[in-house]
Amino acid sequence: MSKIVTIERHILDQQKQYPDATGIFTNLLYDIALAAKFISRETNRAGLADILGATNQVNVHGERQQKLDLFADEILFKINDHTGRLCAMASEEHDDILAIPPHYDTGKYVLLYDPLDGSSNIDVNVSVGTIFAIHRKVSSGVYGTMEDILQPGRSLAAAGYVIYGSSTMLVYSTGQGVHGFTLDNSVGEFFLSHPNMRVPNEQKYYSANHGNEKYWTPGVKQYVKWLQGIYGEGRKPLSHRYIGSLVSDFHRNLLCGGVFVYPGDFFYRSKPYGKLRLMYEAQALAFLAQQAGGYASDGVGDILDIQPHKLHQRVPFFVGNRDLVEKAEEFIQKYDQEWVQAYLPYRNLVPTFA
Ligand code: AHG
Ligand code: MN
Ligand code: MN
Repeated sequence: MSKIVTIERHILDQQKQYPDATGIFTNLLYDIALAAKFISRETNRAGLADILGATNQVNVHGERQQKLDLFADEILFKINDHTGRLCAMASEEHDDILAIPPHYDTGKYVLLYDPLDGSSNIDVNVSVGTIFAIHRKVSSGVYGTMEDILQPGRSLAAAGYVIYGSSTMLVYSTGQGVHGFTLDNSVGEFFLSHPNMRVPNEQKYYSANHGNEKYWTPGVKQYVKWLQGIYGEGRKPLSHRYIGSLVSDFHRNLLCGGVFVYPGDFFYRSKPYGKLRLMYEAQALAFLAQQAGGYASDGVGDILDIQPHKLHQRVPFFVGNRDLVEKAEEFIQKYDQEWVQAYLPYRNLVPTFA
């Protein structure tokens, strides 16, 4: 039997090598793992408890909120609001920054999260996830501000995701590689099951929603045909796999090699900047991809270098094997200059506090 390493032990071991990971940081990651256990339990019994289905509420994106969205959102906030480790939080499900209640201490980290990713799949029993990103506090006051939230991915202290699938896995990085843990429900512990995850050289899948193909720009259309091997060049065509849960598509491609594609549409469409959100979806997965030897781009450049200008900012998203993502940039650079020139002013907006 290989050595039994719990997520707590692994984080503590990492702490010795990681300059600023004090006990606070270790406990913060542990708190997220605890929230994941609660969400996993509710997800796994969703069909039994009154947790399925939609609420009559709509979030800031105009999307109807699922009961499990709200459950996951509340658990993540309640587990973290009183620990004194955070100066602020931000969630996909809330318009603005989530302040730490005044009767609690604050700390030196910020937690951003997509509490439940892939909500459209909850009622049809397809895997969903949670995505989280941790930045260090940079503002001077006691309480966190938007300045602490809107930081580029390059300065992330940690990021990760939980996937609630055939098993529940927590995958995270503190900048010391990517490590995967599988939840053993019988003892309620996450055990190290995938140490040092690396994007494999072999590439198997591409993920894209072909239902949007008519809105793709010429360069993106030609790129996807290249992925399918239509231009020959002796490349092995990639198989198409698209689950509609970003975490699940990302996780499969991380294990098997490939690329996930959610581009920006033409500007007359509703999603010229893509659908996925920079602060609590793209940044976290871009950080993990880079730590695993892969790469993530908005089609123009590295996701991790984008200076965010608003909390729910959307971003075109290409992530996976570095050569596949760089090829997307090549096609867009060559054939989509009209789109690029219209996108750059949005991409280069600076936040109001700057
Ligand atoms: P969320 O459920 O957090 O809103 O995220 C859904 C996202 C992402 O998980 C997935 O990749 C994408 O929406 C699917 O979008 P389409 O249905 O437009 O393909
Ligand atoms: Mn999501
Ligand atoms: Mn979500």
